[in-house]
Amino acid sequence: MSPAPAAEVIADCFDSPSGDLPSEETEVPETVADAWKNIVREVSTTHFDIGISANVVENTGKLRKDNVKLSVNVAFPSSCDGGGADTGELDVVSNTSSGSGGKTTSVLKPSPSVGATLENHTDSPIGSGGSENSSSSSMIEEAWELLSKSYVYFKGQRVGTIAANDDPGSETLNYNQVFVRDFVPSGLACLMRNDADVEIVKNFLLKTLHLQGWEKRIDNFTLGEGVMPASFKVIQDPIRKKEVLQADFGGSAIGRVAPVDSGFWWIILLRSYTKCTHDYSLSELPEVQRGIKLILNLCLSDGFDTFPTLLCADGCSMIDRRMGVYGYPIEIQALFFFALRCARQLLKPEHDGKELIERIDKRITALSYHMQNYYWLDFTQLNNIYRYKTEEYSHTAVNKFNVIPESIPDWVFEFMPLRGGYFIGNVSPARMDFRWFLVGNCIAILSCLATPAQATAVMDLIEERWTDLIGEMPLKIAYPALEGHEWKNVTGCDPKNTRWSYHNGGSWPVLLWLLTAASIKTGRPQIAKRAIELIEQRLSKDGWPEYYDGITGRYIGKQARKHQTWSIAGYLVAKLMIENPSNLLIISLDEDKKIAKPRLTRSASWTY
Ligand code: GLC
Repeated sequence: MSPAPAAEVIADCFDSPSGDLPSEETEVPETVADAWKNIVREVSTTHFDIGISANVVENTGKLRKDNVKLSVNVAFPSSCDGGGADTGELDVVSNTSSGSGGKTTSVLKPSPSVGATLENHTDSPIGSGGSENSSSSSMIEEAWELLSKSYVYFKGQRVGTIAANDDPGSETLNYNQVFVRDFVPSGLACLMRNDADVEIVKNFLLKTLHLQGWEKRIDNFTLGEGVMPASFKVIQDPIRKKEVLQADFGGSAIGRVAPVDSGFWWIILLRSYTKCTHDYSLSELPEVQRGIKLILNLCLSDGFDTFPTLLCADGCSMIDRRMGVYGYPIEIQALFFFALRCARQLLKPEHDGKELIERIDKRITALSYHMQNYYWLDFTQLNNIYRYKTEEYSHTAVNKFNVIPESIPDWVFEFMPLRGGYFIGNVSPARMDFRWFLVGNCIAILSCLATPAQATAVMDLIEERWTDLIGEMPLKIAYPALEGHEWKNVTGCDPKNTRWSYHNGGSWPVLLWLLTAASIKTGRPQIAKRAIELIEQRLSKDGWPEYYDGITGRYIGKQARKHQTWSIAGYLVAKLMIENPSNLLIISLDEDKKIAKPRLTRSASWTY
């Protein structure tokens, strides 16, 4: 029997009054450790090697416990997996800090809702890279079949995938349309499969480009030339008796939100197509070059800005409802950076191309400096902000945005581990939105907006805060949820975005592909494997829902559509990358050595 890799299990039994806890890293009293050893020994005859330690940190005048860890080395007897002297790994992490939202405890017991047993959990050891078990391969088969049923045809050609193929009785709203952002995982799955299906991606790129060329009017207002649609559908024109496309640029969308992300995703997918096929003839078409330039003209034009980030209205991306993401949201800034770097590869220098490339280069440098310095938050930086002086005048100001330390929400102090960090949600004068948003952080990793050290720290944070950010069903779109008065003020009492639901702290399976890509890129595929295992326990059984509700994502979302295409495609892309990590290259960029490196404060994240 070979030794098994270590696993971490966090216990919540160290809930002693905070005043009893010393203010620096301590060993948990032996008696507690012994008690745990005894409990674990009782439940199994399996060989366990147990270590327990606790880090305790003081902040804001409060003592708190951080990451009380019980590491368990487990060597399973061969009878556990039906053959071979194999080893298993339990890798369940939680934290026990008592944040305002209240923390859940870790799971080392079967969950009745998924019917999983501890043995099931360890059947396929994480990190084994072994062959597919039969339930996973039947899930993959089902996913491909469902994906092919989601294809939307225009004049006999596949041009995209429908957002959701729910039961006929369910309310459709605009889920019967092809959304640009939703098609990205579908397109990637088609590109990454062994027998790459490139046609649908090419058709999609050309059709949406064609829609960009339309005159776009909402009431009496004409939208910018470069705006890409949020979605489109194919309808039968009863008069002309032929199929026509109908696009939505935000005019019909709930709340008339602007799809700022669409153009960025379009450029990113065009680069993925080119990278995968080596077919440069598409991106070099004059109309495609023009389409790229029109999108960039919208974001690179001179204005009154004092920051290189892009100013947006609320609801401008995947979170397409009022959620307080207006201003300079991380998701858009990361996508902007990614799209700039992709465009840099695709644009030809002919005609006005050279001048545009120069503007792109300058913006890339300025944007990466701004994001890496001002959006980055880890333990050290949080401590700096906590001690900020205010009302500093002139360029020597340390507190550049005049952030008032009292505006730091309590939960951040509880949430921030010693090891790890992330790009916060938004930065503007006197406003820092400290919420965690997964899409922006993963895109920052894939585009190399994050430095290698920051990318590692983001993955550290995900591991340290597994229960909060992954929970029972990957993955939280944002953390934490807005509640009470804050929910009323920020969302405008949105009944769809109640706490821990939908965009407001709900869990979205589609995000699995982004986590998988980021974890492979940072050399941590085991993180993705753990998340994939969780998804595989329920997603297909639950009918591939759009999102899950609840603090740990246990419940199928109240208004979630079933057979949501990007939940299906996101799973396929994650599997295709885990099985063949070179697929990552289709959606990831290498570091650009030419981009000037900012001077970063050394912090706990990269000294551990
Ligand atoms: C919802 C989501 C949006 C998605 C659309 C179609 O509006 O908020 O991100 O693109 O559904 O799935």
